[in-house]
Amino acid sequence: MAKAQRRFVCSACGGVQARWAGKCPDCGEWNTLNERVIEPVAEDLHRPELIEASAAPVPLDEIALDATHRWGTRLSEFDRVLGGGLVAGSAVLLGGDPGIGKSTLALQVARSLADDGRKTLYVTSEESPGQVRLRAERLRGAAEPTNVDAVSGGKRTAGGDGAGVLVAAQSNLDVILNQIRLQKPHVVIVDSVQMVYRPDLPSVPGSATQLRDCASRLVWLAKQMGFALILVGHVTKEGAIAGPKVLEHIVDCVLYFEGERFASHRLIRAAKNRFGSTDELGIFEMTDAGLRPVEDPSRLFLEQIDASRPGSVILAACEGTRVLMVEVQALCVQSVFGAAKRKATGVDAGRVAMILAVLEKHAGHVLGDQDVFVNIVGGVKVAEPAADLAIALAVAGTRMNRALPRGTAVFGELGLGGEVRPVYHAQRRLAEAGRIGIGRVISPAAERAGRASRANAAARGNGMQISVCKNVQDAMKLLE
Ligand code: TYD
Ligand code: MG
Repeated sequence: MAKAQRRFVCSACGGVQARWAGKCPDCGEWNTLNERVIEPVAEDLHRPELIEASAAPVPLDEIALDATHRWGTRLSEFDRVLGGGLVAGSAVLLGGDPGIGKSTLALQVARSLADDGRKTLYVTSEESPGQVRLRAERLRGAAEPTNVDAVSGGKRTAGGDGAGVLVAAQSNLDVILNQIRLQKPHVVIVDSVQMVYRPDLPSVPGSATQLRDCASRLVWLAKQMGFALILVGHVTKEGAIAGPKVLEHIVDCVLYFEGERFASHRLIRAAKNRFGSTDELGIFEMTDAGLRPVEDPSRLFLEQIDASRPGSVILAACEGTRVLMVEVQALCVQSVFGAAKRKATGVDAGRVAMILAVLEKHAGHVLGDQDVFVNIVGGVKVAEPAADLAIALAVAGTRMNRALPRGTAVFGELGLGGEVRPVYHAQRRLAEAGRIGIGRVISPAAERAGRASRANAAARGNGMQISVCKNVQDAMKLLE
């Protein structure tokens, strides 16, 4: 066995250095390097849970094909981003800004699962049981009896319909792990994982070292005992260091809350999902009684379909299996000082820069002396290139002070040569536009597969007016 070594360990990021320094070279924090004698130990001694759980290697085709158990949460939109429900033995990380609704969702999920007879342990490390109880009251409304029994330490008292959520106000990891072993729950929710700590680690609670260590121990136990684990984590200001990012590779599924805190809708997107697709979007509305799933969201972000204003364009965007109609807005103003400003909210700034270049080169718009602002209304983020044409029309519209005909939806990708390129799911976008009463669509000529658009022909058959664009000049002619 190798000799014990002296090393300097950063209490903020956990980085190990050979030499002492005032500033940690890994995370840039000052005065965080502490000398430690590192005893060489076999890796496995760190992970007793793994040794117990693992057996000798098994040939792949001899592994039992047990269908994964999925538990619906009665929150259709949450199930949708999970890929059909919570998977037993899996770990889900639920991240988002403070105040966006993570605890609300966690408690709603806990209660639906408990109501369905799953034993659910809700570990609250940052709120008192009383606060959890208050939130539960708010969610259920005064009329219904609550079955959340807030008793510190995980014991349940009488009351409710017997399938109560167990609430433990605890942040010491050892106590939490013991409670889990004792209670043998089906579902464990830790809100939030950043406040959970191991007293025997030298770094401060909330540091990356603590976070990673505590989370991985919880995840190992989940795999070993087969309970579903939901870890709630906030995105901190130093998100890169001690935020949910450091946990992404430890868990099976990473969900992030999106949207504006001050608007009533909340979006949940999967950044990683071992048991489902990552392009589904869960849409909720924050109401007085908690988060309500929004199953028909196409009109959620559109105030009016038939308003028409220069610089504002309806985009038929695709999110997973659904089409969302969103409003793209642009504003161009003469810039005052030298370099023109470009600001993009909800779309990629690099993509906007490319679209502006295409407009300059192929549509004759001089934008070099203009401050350009592009925004997707309602805090939605659109990543697909199908938004290009809508952005171009919004920018050109504000520049020329011309609008599209009333009630026109747009989709299409722009190429650097000014050509309008086909996008995926043209048919779905056209059908959804028709369904919510949009009568006109500006679309690429062909479908993604390269053949002439059958979707366009079918939509025309249904009375929709389709303007096909081959290039950006064609599209500009539609601004009136
Ligand atoms: P919370 O879930 O505590 O946010 P997080 O855990 O992400 O920090 O609450 C978010 C906000 O939602 C809070 O400002 C209060 C509001 N809210 C409602 O509007 N309706 C409700 O029923 C509840 C429980 C909270
Ligand atoms: Mg919270």
